Amino acid sequence: MDDLREKYLKAISGAADEAALEDLRVAAVGKKGEVSLQMRELGRMTPEERQVAGPKLNALKDEINSALSAKKAALEDAALDERLRGEWLDVTLPGRDRRLGTVHPVSQVTEEVSAILADMGFAVAEGPQVEDDWHNFDALNIPSHHPARTEMDTFYMARGEGDNRPPHVLRTHTSPVQIRTMQAQGAPLRVIAPGRVYRADYDQTHTPMFHQVEGLAVDKDISMANLKWVLEEFFSAFFGTSVKTRFRASHFPFTEPSAEVDIQCSWEGGTVKVGEGDGWLEVLGSGMVHPKVLEAGGIDPVEWQGFAFGMGIDRMAMLKYGIPDLRAFFDSDLRWLRHYGFSSLAVPTLHGGL
Ligand code: DAH
Repeated sequence: MDDLREKYLKAISGAADEAALEDLRVAAVGKKGEVSLQMRELGRMTPEERQVAGPKLNALKDEINSALSAKKAALEDAALDERLRGEWLDVTLPGRDRRLGTVHPVSQVTEEVSAILADMGFAVAEGPQVEDDWHNFDALNIPSHHPARTEMDTFYMARGEGDNRPPHVLRTHTSPVQIRTMQAQGAPLRVIAPGRVYRADYDQTHTPMFHQVEGLAVDKDISMANLKWVLEEFFSAFFGTSVKTRFRASHFPFTEPSAEVDIQCSWEGGTVKVGEGDGWLEVLGSGMVHPKVLEAGGIDPVEWQGFAFGMGIDRMAMLKYGIPDLRAFFDSDLRWLRHYGFSSLAVPTLHGGL
């Protein structure tokens, strides 16, 4: 018994971890453990022998059990100490400053334009940026010999040999979305289509990729007067001041009659101020949708008519926020983005302000 005590107490105090401890428990006091086997021997002893050996064995069993649980607690404490030594955190350190990103002026102005026109009942429509030449040109009454095709400095998609799909272009304007929406929704409809457009052009006011927003309203009695009201309301809401507009007769293949629209501005002091002075700035093209365009969209031009307009979003951002060079819009210069960008919390809404 003394040998067993010495053997197990020594082993327990030297156990390296809880698994070793468990092995020792099984070996000593488990069902087939050495101490348990000794206890089984009691039955074969004389009553006198049993009286001496019984209490001793019980005491040994208790001693081993309490040594086991004491060692277990000690191992747990040591493990915790070890963790606390390794994992520590100075909660008094100041937080690390992380710069928030900003919303690009084009995104902001797209949201502003959409908020204003949504309030007038226009839904947002979309179309592909890689467009087939039928949607980009033919359906908009621009046949292949038409000078507008070359004027637009179109990017054509390369085609592999034997590729028989119709020629595709990077859309040169958002007008093809008119066709797609008419085909998908039929009349009556009222949509705007903001998005990227592409033309091979690059100087202070032109980049090969820029943004437009298209407007289209089709119903039985839509007139030029509706167009004028919508645009005047729009400009006043957008610039936050009443803005005079001037409609100049013009020509687009997809509208008849067509008008270019100028907004009132002053050029004093070398900067443009919208809604003041007696200067004019051309900002969009518009008109009554050409019957052939309605037809291409699957809408009967005898029954329906509508207006359309197309406006440059980047240009509107430059005017509203006094940004002089369009090329900087797409340089991804962080200093520019921080300066001209908007807080992501400043979500434009009509009631919250633009
Ligand atoms: N698509 C024309 C352009 O990119 C702009 C335009 C003019 C759109 C007249 C229209 C419109 O919807 O009616 O220059």
